[in-house]
Amino acid sequence: MFIRVLSSSRALESEVTPESIYLSRRKLMQGSLALAAMMAMPAWAGAGTQGVYRDVDPARAPDWFEEKLAAARWQAVTAGGESITPFKDATHYNNFYEFGAGKGEPAANAGRLQIEPWSVMIDGEVGKPGRYSIEDLVKPHAFEERIYRLRCVEAWSMVIPWLGFPLASLLRQVEPTSAAHYVRFETLVDREHMPGQRSGFSLIDWPYVEGLRLDEAMHPLAFMAVGMYGRVLPNQNGAPLRLVVPWKYGFKSIKSIVRISLVAEAPRTTWERIAPNEYGFFANVNPQVDHPRWSQATERRLPSGLFSPNVIDTRMFNGYEEVADLYAGMDLARYY
Ligand code: MTE
Repeated sequence: MFIRVLSSSRALESEVTPESIYLSRRKLMQGSLALAAMMAMPAWAGAGTQGVYRDVDPARAPDWFEEKLAAARWQAVTAGGESITPFKDATHYNNFYEFGAGKGEPAANAGRLQIEPWSVMIDGEVGKPGRYSIEDLVKPHAFEERIYRLRCVEAWSMVIPWLGFPLASLLRQVEPTSAAHYVRFETLVDREHMPGQRSGFSLIDWPYVEGLRLDEAMHPLAFMAVGMYGRVLPNQNGAPLRLVVPWKYGFKSIKSIVRISLVAEAPRTTWERIAPNEYGFFANVNPQVDHPRWSQATERRLPSGLFSPNVIDTRMFNGYEEVADLYAGMDLARYY
């Protein structure tokens, strides 16, 4: 995110193929992949067997993903008719400081990240601690697609169709004890494959850490994503497992998670540690509380350019007002 930089996408929700058509396309695709390889591919076939969206780069998905995808519940949550950001923008305008501070660096550098095998350490106040392989972690959960707005604290936003399962289901799987009040998340440290972690200029004390209060983490909107645009997550978007908290600024949505700890005290999070007067623990999207160096009243909805800046009003809780009860009685200017 930026400390010094100011800082961009869209496809109509109507461009999302209705499920019935999608499913029949899927069947068609599965049945005719070999043939299609020999012929000119139709526009929607760019996503390989996951041909839901246009212009999506195909990807080889691990078995644990493919097995679940077949039974995914499509468009379980939608963004009220807002245009979905083109795949190209969502995957080439990123914040993932482990791969560099530039918006294009994650896409340029993340290809070398090793995501197989992958495991997540679950520890702290839980009945079932341990190191879980991604396969075991994902196995109990049905996949659903959620089309969420993503609002970065830098005042740009996107609309992204994520694939995954509720964070609450994962937490129930590991059985938090009564002493657990917060959830702490940690990203991989891999200096060999993450050039941003070797940089002497980085302000970040690795690993990247984020956290939620347990009731926030249990809210039905808090989501663990393993895919987007009908396919597995690209590395630059946080493969193989990332958090998505749509009512909070994007920096809370930590990528490439290797550790989840249930803890009694609020964890010290990465951006809070760097600039506590600029980035708070709660980080709820709030158009009335400006960042000390810029307004949060509006946002640039990507794609945006000089001649079509596409500036829209920012909404309280990024439009997810159903979370307001979590903060009843709290002064949100003080707890930003
Ligand atoms: N997670 C890690 N590990 N490292 C990061 O630098 N950047 C955050 C968040 N998660 C970040 C991260 C910020 S600032 C934003 S806005 C979102 O990821 C961007 O997600 P996207 O690149 O998929 O749009």
